[in-house]
Amino acid sequence: MLYQAPLAPKYSTMTEEDLRRQILARKSQLGRRLVILGHHYQQDEVLEFADFTGDSFKLSQLASQQKDAEFVVFCGVHFMAESADILTSDRVQVILPDLTAGCSMADMAGIDQVEDAWDHLTRTTDAVIVPITYVNSSAAVKAFVGGHDGACCTSSNAPQVLRWALGGEESGAPNVRRKVLFLPDQHLGRNTAFGLGWPLDCMAVYDPKLPNGGLTDEQIRSAVFFLWKGHCSVHQLFTARQVDEIRSIDPDYRVIVHPECDWSLVQKADLAGSTEFIIRTIENAPAGSKWAVGTEVHLVHRLAKRFEGVKSVRLLAGIQCLCTTMYRIDMKHLLWTLDELAAGRIVNRIHVDPETKTLARIALDRMLSLTGDGAAKTASTPRAIAACVD
Ligand code: 13P
Ligand code: SF4
Repeated sequence: MLYQAPLAPKYSTMTEEDLRRQILARKSQLGRRLVILGHHYQQDEVLEFADFTGDSFKLSQLASQQKDAEFVVFCGVHFMAESADILTSDRVQVILPDLTAGCSMADMAGIDQVEDAWDHLTRTTDAVIVPITYVNSSAAVKAFVGGHDGACCTSSNAPQVLRWALGGEESGAPNVRRKVLFLPDQHLGRNTAFGLGWPLDCMAVYDPKLPNGGLTDEQIRSAVFFLWKGHCSVHQLFTARQVDEIRSIDPDYRVIVHPECDWSLVQKADLAGSTEFIIRTIENAPAGSKWAVGTEVHLVHRLAKRFEGVKSVRLLAGIQCLCTTMYRIDMKHLLWTLDELAAGRIVNRIHVDPETKTLARIALDRMLSLTGDGAAKTASTPRAIAACVD
């Protein structure tokens, strides 16, 4: 984790109203030189200052479209700011208000581990292996993937990216010659591949902490997907049992979850998809509908407030599922960042070196060219599973 210098004491003694007023003043002072991007999991008190909000895919698109701004202040986590730096021109400086806002999932795939896994897998099978990384990964991992003819994906387009990686090879087709190394979220990989009709026995979990990933040569030769053993510490708090509990309390609740959740939960849920998909589904749902949502608490509470009295929206789990690193971005850090910019000083710049940038950009551009609707599971997702073919 990066080090974040403590803020000057004055920021701790300011009232919320003072912070709000001064952030707005700094925003108008910096004008078009500044764009603030905010992920849906941010706290409301931060998101209210964002010029644009979105999920990881939409924010990457928005970052790539910034032509006028000199500064992009990213209210999200470190890998998102890195992606924004990769996708913007050299004159744009990307800033993360608190350097300790990382992502534990991204940290689960170190570049050395990925390189070791690649060496081992490509030595063991003659099949073409396409590396795919969820954007929740370091710039170094993205560069590795770009340099090996792979692509990034987000939860908004993971099915489209997997289809691309397999070159149109469908589940059940004979002589599958392409395989996918999916980094670093095993759950998104499993849910997406399964949603495309691939059976679970085509998927092998690659555990970077075990010799040879914990796989035998035979398992490597027969698997189609190598799912990196990573997960999101927030989404793993949602369980299939919570679906039973909620339905036993009120069977009218529909359950919608993010595909970073465990496969058994996604199977029980009515729908699964990216944060934009979740928002859109609830927006379009009829008045009186009831939703239990398996994703980060700030987004769920925002939806509950927005539709209060019209639709019922609640968190699927009884406990608060909070992304503690996103939560580190608060009004104090945002104001400090803007104060420094107004004084002509750039703090907390996220800068990816040019060589890494060039390769990572290949993977990110492929991701941006493969758009999806964010759905990981709908009523029409196939349930009949063909057997895995070797
Ligand atoms: P999306 O923004 O792709 O929905 O992913 C959620 C998430 O966990 C971001 O870190
Ligand atoms: Fe990472 Fe999960 Fe937080 Fe997203 S919600 S930033 S995947 S820890």
